[in-house]
Amino acid sequence: MPVTTSSAPGKIILFGEHAVVYGRPALAVPVTQVQATATVSENSRGGVMIEAPNINLSADLSSLPSDHPLVFVINSVFSTLKISNPPACTVYLQSTIPIASGLGSGAAVSVAIIRALSGFLGKPLPDEKVNLLAFEAEKLYHGTPSGIDNTVVTYAKPVYFILKKPIKTFHVGAPFTIMIGGTGISAPTKDSVGSVRKLWQADKPRWEKVFTRVGEIVWNARQAIERGDVAELGRLMDANHALLQEMTVSCVELDDLVEAARKSGALGAKLSGGGHGGNMIALVEKDNAPAVARALSSAGAKRTILTQVG
Ligand code: MEV
Repeated sequence: MPVTTSSAPGKIILFGEHAVVYGRPALAVPVTQVQATATVSENSRGGVMIEAPNINLSADLSSLPSDHPLVFVINSVFSTLKISNPPACTVYLQSTIPIASGLGSGAAVSVAIIRALSGFLGKPLPDEKVNLLAFEAEKLYHGTPSGIDNTVVTYAKPVYFILKKPIKTFHVGAPFTIMIGGTGISAPTKDSVGSVRKLWQADKPRWEKVFTRVGEIVWNARQAIERGDVAELGRLMDANHALLQEMTVSCVELDDLVEAARKSGALGAKLSGGGHGGNMIALVEKDNAPAVARALSSAGAKRTILTQVG
C-alpha cells in the first residue's frame, strides 16, 4: 500500500463564536500558515501505531482508551469503511497549529487523519463524509460543538455557518488583513462552551438576546466584507468583542492584546474562538501590520501570525 499524506489548515472565527452554538450565524476562514499533517504507511511490526511527537505520543492503538480523540478518529474511519481487520500501519501526525488556542487544531488533526487513512486504505472519503466524521470527533474535544471548526477546515474556504444548515461560503469584496495574536494560554474550547451554557441555562431570555445581537453583527459583517468596507468591519469586531466580554469568555490577557492592537492603529480587534486564553484577531492595514505586531508582543503576545482573507 502506498504511503499516503494529507494536510489540513487551521482556522479563525472572524465573528460569531459561542452564539453560533445557539443557532446564530458565524463567519470563519481557514489559516493556511499553520497545518496539521497525517502520513499513513505500512509497518512491519504489526498492529496500528500512532506516532504524534508534538504530544509525546507513540503507542499501539489497542493500548489507548477508545475515547482518546485520535483513537476515536482512526476507529471511525475503519468502521465507516467496514474494515474489521485493519492492515499493519503507522499513522504519523505532525502539526504546527498550537493546541487549545482557538485555531482549530483538533479539527485539522481529525480531517488530516481521515483523509490520509481512507486514502491509504484505497477508499478516499468524500468531503461530506470527512466533515461528518470530524464533527463526531469534535464532540470529544468540545462537548457541544456547532460544527463550524470541522466545516472550515474540511472545505478550506471562508464559511458563513449556521448550525445544521447547508454550508455557504461568502464573497470577499476587497482582500483584508488579519493579525492573530496568541496569549500562550491553553484554553480548551470545551470549558468555555460549558461556561456559556451555564450562563444561558441560568437566564435564557437574557442570553438569547445577547446571541441575537451577535447574529446581527455577523450578518452586518458579511455585508461589509462583501462590499469591501473594512472600516465598518473593524467597528463590528469591537462590538462583537464587547458581547464576548459580556459572556465572560474574555480574560485580562486577551483584553490587553485587543487594547494594544487598537491603540497601535488596528481598525478593530476581538478575541477569536473559545476565549479564556487562546487567540485574538485584529483587522490591520498592511503597512501598519509590523507596528501592530510589535504592540502585541509588548503587551504579552507569545506569537503573532499575519493572514490575508480573500
Ligand atoms: C470554537 O472555535 C467556536 C465556538 O463557537 C465553539 C463552536 O462553535 O463549536 C466557541
